[in-house]
Amino acid sequence: IHLFLLYTEDVWVLALKIIKNVDRYREAAMSEIDVLQQMNSLDRNEHYACVRMLDLFDHHGHICIVFELLGLSTYDFLKENGFMPFTVDQIRHMANQIFRAVHFLHRNKLTRTDLKSENILFVDSDYCLEYNAKLKRDERTLKKTDVKVVDFGFLVSSRHYRAPEVTLELGWNQACDVWSLCCILIDYYPGLMLFQTHDSKEHLAMMERVLGPIPSSLLQKTKKRRYVRHGQLDWDEHNSSGRYVRKHCKPLKQYMSSKSTEHEQLFDLMHKMLEHDVSKRITLEAALRHSFFDPLKGKKK
Ligand SMILES: *[C@@H]1O[C@H](CO)[C@@H](O)[C@H](O)[C@H]1NC(C)=O
Repeated sequence: IHLFLLYTEDVWVLALKIIKNVDRYREAAMSEIDVLQQMNSLDRNEHYACVRMLDLFDHHGHICIVFELLGLSTYDFLKENGFMPFTVDQIRHMANQIFRAVHFLHRNKLTRTDLKSENILFVDSDYCLEYNAKLKRDERTLKKTDVKVVDFGFLVSSRHYRAPEVTLELGWNQACDVWSLCCILIDYYPGLMLFQTHDSKEHLAMMERVLGPIPSSLLQKTKKRRYVRHGQLDWDEHNSSGRYVRKHCKPLKQYMSSKSTEHEQLFDLMHKMLEHDVSKRITLEAALRHSFFDPLKGKKK
């Protein structure tokens, strides 16, 4: 009966997530469902960009969750479009929706999500196709940049989006989501390819290269002693890993593709979000008041 619902006038209108009948998947699914139910009932007017759960049923022990149908993930859109970056205006509009959604989750003490660009979906990823004669390729321009945050069943963030306090096992709070959100902006911005690594120590070395040294107060506290030597990150700039990091990463500001005010504002915000020390990192609330978002304020009125 439920599957029958999926098909209306030859158009797919719903999305179905089927969770395998395996104990630990079921457990994760139950906690996700709990978050989705709370979230959807706290936000009846769909004020925040979090995915809606529409129905829920059990099919031979496989939990099935019915969602509204959304478009491509922002990551898949980038990938299918040859990683052509979003414009600063698009980034601003998307960031504002995502930040507000996550801030809403934080305020209601709901579990954080695995924040990454794969888990940010366009509501509608329809685009116009135009030929770029200079680059000799087709380019997709999105018609709308409305997005929603999906996937609420996770506890550990993906490495690429992981904050230093998580890697250093210093304990984490909601501030680590601010870091992950900035890594999402980095995915969207032209030419920013930070933190391409599979190794935790190399990841920390990249953070130092991009953002400056990790404060010794943090390194003193970590239980990961093998990361530290003489109160500093144990790193050798001259061996092959060291050369890789120097070559592939540079200080954040050097990635700016323009010196215009709006780029300056975006990078100022990113710097504040990528503060190594949690106590100095900007809060989401303050981030939403940052001048980068000012152009949106006029629009609403
Ligand atoms: C380079 O040196 C660092 C610090 O001593 C070490 O952690 C890393 O494994 C080394 N990399 C290679 C490829 O030797």
